[in-house]
Amino acid sequence: YEPSRIRNFCIIAHIDHGKSTLADRLLQMTKTVEEREMKQQLLDNMDLERERGITIKLQAARMNYLAKDGEWYVLNLIDTPGHVDFTYEVSRSLAACEGALLVVDASQGVEAQTIANTYLALASDLEIIPVLNKIDLPGADLDATAQEVESTIGLDCTDALACSAKTGVGVAEILEAIVARIPPPAARLDEPLRALIFDSYYDSYRGVVVFIRVVSGQICAGDKVRFKASGKAYEALEVGTLTPGAEKPAEALRAGEVGYMYGGIKSVSDARVGDTIVLNKAHEEVEALADYMEPIPVVYCGLFPVETTQYQLLRESLEKLQLNDAALSFEPETSSAMGFGFRCGFLGLLHMEIVQERLEREYDLDLIVTAPTVVYKVQMNDGSEIDVDSPSKLVDSSERVSVSEPYVALEMFTPKEYSGTLMELAQDRRGEYVDLKFLTEKRVSIKYEMPLAEVITDFFDAMKSRSKGYASMEYSMIGYRPNDLVRLDILINGELAPPLANIVHRDAAFTVGKALTKKLKELIPRQMFKVPLQAAIGQKIVASSSISPMRKDVLAKCYGGDVSRKKKLLQKQAKGKKRMKAIGRVNVPQEAFMAVLNLK
Ligand code: GTP
Repeated sequence: YEPSRIRNFCIIAHIDHGKSTLADRLLQMTKTVEEREMKQQLLDNMDLERERGITIKLQAARMNYLAKDGEWYVLNLIDTPGHVDFTYEVSRSLAACEGALLVVDASQGVEAQTIANTYLALASDLEIIPVLNKIDLPGADLDATAQEVESTIGLDCTDALACSAKTGVGVAEILEAIVARIPPPAARLDEPLRALIFDSYYDSYRGVVVFIRVVSGQICAGDKVRFKASGKAYEALEVGTLTPGAEKPAEALRAGEVGYMYGGIKSVSDARVGDTIVLNKAHEEVEALADYMEPIPVVYCGLFPVETTQYQLLRESLEKLQLNDAALSFEPETSSAMGFGFRCGFLGLLHMEIVQERLEREYDLDLIVTAPTVVYKVQMNDGSEIDVDSPSKLVDSSERVSVSEPYVALEMFTPKEYSGTLMELAQDRRGEYVDLKFLTEKRVSIKYEMPLAEVITDFFDAMKSRSKGYASMEYSMIGYRPNDLVRLDILINGELAPPLANIVHRDAAFTVGKALTKKLKELIPRQMFKVPLQAAIGQKIVASSSISPMRKDVLAKCYGGDVSRKKKLLQKQAKGKKRMKAIGRVNVPQEAFMAVLNLK
């Protein structure tokens, strides 16, 4: 144990700029993994992550590196999730490091997410080494990229490193720079134990395994410890260090070291990211490291099993997922239209998609998912304030004083030729202009303040398509603001459909109502009878359309013809049936519940 020869660092990069490729390269050059063991992209080890090419969960890897000065160093690479939903987790993994590699694709330039994470790193006082990646590409422009880094982040790029994570050129210099430029952790072995939890996962044999950075003192196998925020006490049954795919037990983890511990912890909600571990006997006098932050769901949706018999399975599956995902929240929701299901809270849209996908894939559930919604704060006539996480629960305007909705500060980075169309988009979504700034001659940053509700519809996709994929964005919550919001109800065949209700700005109610009824007309299959569709505010109908009845001869077409074709049609129908919920007498398909997300 020699703290002066430890380096704890992470890699900050925009999606696809080469974080995983560079990480693999570092592991390979330090012989942490043998060539033949090298699976592509070891650090992203969830299937879902690999498939979607995004990093969701944090991991860490310890490397031994023989530097040019002839000394061996321990390099701990701590991975950070690359998505906006997980900002707090990113900030905690950064807090476990002394330095960061800021990887920028030299053929693309700086992106919004990179900036956001770099600011987090600067806030944690990290030493940042700019790395310009993909220099093997003909489109790589080192000078322009360096200039962008300087103008956007204000980071001196004189000593920026250039590399190709793909070919390996320049990677040896990165290892040397980590040793030379990133400071070693402070030697605080003599102080009381304080360790920061920066990640955890649930294992059915050992319980929760927590990943920690020891900030001061030491933690030994057998120690009685306490988690400051949760207040729970455990025995550290085992502590050790992490290499990809393996955990190596050790006697102790000391100040400056990174590793894992476990000890009969039942659920990740008892071992939250950001919590501080101290020795049980000293827990009263030793203070927690930084302010622990409770994860707060910002997006809610309803999950209902298509088959009511799957309700129990859905509950068990959510409970299992929660063991590993402290930010997931859910509670039972019953409605006459949808039957038994759950109202679930997520950190953001991506988080929501991940959970849905895992439920369907890993637990084989068929779900109806209702459109995501933000949490509104409603000031009631009696002076109380209530949270509304489901549009159908918004009370009539006669019972309330006002409704407030969450706002975000949004920043987009884009080539300048798309700035006009992107500003138009932001304006359309009730955005309030804040600032436009040139980053370089060719690229600009555009800032708006906007209701979160407008961002969680198809804003991201619209931004991408308007900018031909070139723009990137980032947002953070800035608090609640009152607006003239109303509940827009949908009636199908004269019957209220609560899962299709929306909260919209009064000025937009007519437009949304019209677009939504039109869309529903396309999405809901014809019935044997005519189905009126209406959008209403209270008793007032603001828009309507109708689905004409099915013509009797639709199936007749297939008779007498090709048998396999008929079979196929029936199969298709059966499959289509799987994702439907009956509202009154009408079967409503999954897509209809999401219709409000892409009305344009
Ligand atoms: P996330 O995990 O989604 O954050 O992405 P990432 O930043 O880890 O990117 P990743 O390492 O997966 O690289 C994205 C793509 O760029 C892959 O197809 C890589 O093969 C490619 N790539 C990475 N580094 C280089 C490089 O130096 N040169 C070239 N030509 N391609 C590279």
